[in-house]
Amino acid sequence: MYDLVIANGKVVTPGRVRNCSLGVRGEEIAILSEDKLEGKRTIDATGKVVLPGAIDPHVHLELPFQGTISADDFYQGTVAAAFGGVTSVIDFAIHGKDVDILDHIQARRELAEPKVVVDYSFHPSFTTETQQNLDYVQKLIELGMPTFKLFLPYKREGFHVGDGFLFKMLQETHRHNGLVLIHAENADVVEQLMQEQEARGKVSWMQHYDSRPNFVEGTSIATSIELAKAAGSALYVVHLSTEEGLNHLRQAQHQGYPIMMETCPQYLEFTKDVYAQEDGLNYIMTPPMRLKKDNEALWSGIERGDIPCMGTDHCPFSTEQKLLGRELFSKVPNGGMGVETLLPYMFSEGVNQGRISLSRLAQLLSENTAKIHGLQHKGSLEVGKDADIVIVDPQLKRTVTAEAMHSNSDYSLYEGRELTGWPVITISRGEVIVEEGELKAERGRGKFVERTISSELLNAAPQGGLA
Ligand code: URP
Ligand code: ZN
Ligand code: ZN
Repeated sequence: MYDLVIANGKVVTPGRVRNCSLGVRGEEIAILSEDKLEGKRTIDATGKVVLPGAIDPHVHLELPFQGTISADDFYQGTVAAAFGGVTSVIDFAIHGKDVDILDHIQARRELAEPKVVVDYSFHPSFTTETQQNLDYVQKLIELGMPTFKLFLPYKREGFHVGDGFLFKMLQETHRHNGLVLIHAENADVVEQLMQEQEARGKVSWMQHYDSRPNFVEGTSIATSIELAKAAGSALYVVHLSTEEGLNHLRQAQHQGYPIMMETCPQYLEFTKDVYAQEDGLNYIMTPPMRLKKDNEALWSGIERGDIPCMGTDHCPFSTEQKLLGRELFSKVPNGGMGVETLLPYMFSEGVNQGRISLSRLAQLLSENTAKIHGLQHKGSLEVGKDADIVIVDPQLKRTVTAEAMHSNSDYSLYEGRELTGWPVITISRGEVIVEEGELKAERGRGKFVERTISSELLNAAPQGGLA
């Protein structure tokens, strides 16, 4: 007798979609079988797709940023995640200039612990170029946080680090089995262009795009790849938004370097035309929305498998917060929502539009994400893995509205957009946490997950380490 049985679903396992039943014991997947299974509770998944819970490796919950704090705290952000079929999130621990990273991580865990409803972790993020931080790399990896985020832009925000420190971090992480994640933009060029745009006063929200055009991402990615090659290390680029950046990354992958990246649904969907809209400030995030040719190039990168995983950069602000920048583009807090629509968007636009298979969807949202970010017990529907499962109705049509979503933000980037293929049940470590549109999870039930990345993945060519 299993604690929970999911019967008769189309179950997406690594490399194979099976019509079978899945049995859960305690917090883990205990069996996958074509035979009938007995369970204390049985969920009939006839006509449904059973996927591994999605993992969002890029969220910013209650992030103090640009004069305000991102609108979703660890409770509301993880509730939104749960409704979207996301069963693990990785947030960023970005320490203040005079705050020790270990103290900051401790404080952030205390903030998160009583609130989270799905499992979580942090990417330590260094904002000072000190030997002390380099020395912390090994310790942080031992503490289960092997992914280090470096912001190459954001000089004004105090997040920026330079290429010299990036190079040292690439060397240090390579020594200890860690991975550097970069937000790739050339800081000096951005600053120069921002000043030029600011001198014009308020003209249009397009000034955000004009201060961060495609080449500032492309050039930063190109330089960072060369640094990674010289350091002999792997590299991961967050929120990839341009064809230029993708071309550099693909070239390095084809040369056999362990170069990885994520993109986000917003860079597949929107173009810079949104900045011509009156509500264009709602779309101000970094990187900005790009061009049609970038949407298409990124979709091709996903279809071919060059882009192994997806994140959302979920960092919502309310209209009131966005209006802090009503007088000037550069005063608008950068960020948008996305964790709840990640899976439905990729199901609708990816699977249902025939761009990707169910297997590729599972790789993009779970399997590859777990491998790259070192969530060893998560990411796939296999015996012994955590029973993090999402049951999706592939035909269910819903229209996105801020009201129907669970973010604290009062608008959605996808407002009015009909998507087909929505989660109907979300299960985290064997516990049903969302069902029939209702939250079943206790506040604080989520656990901190210690992560370890396999050295094969960090040293192999992408094709060798990932499906
Ligand atoms: O605009 C964004 N993306 N805000 C969050 C910080 C970052 O750059 O990821
Ligand atoms: Zn970023
Ligand atoms: Zn981000």
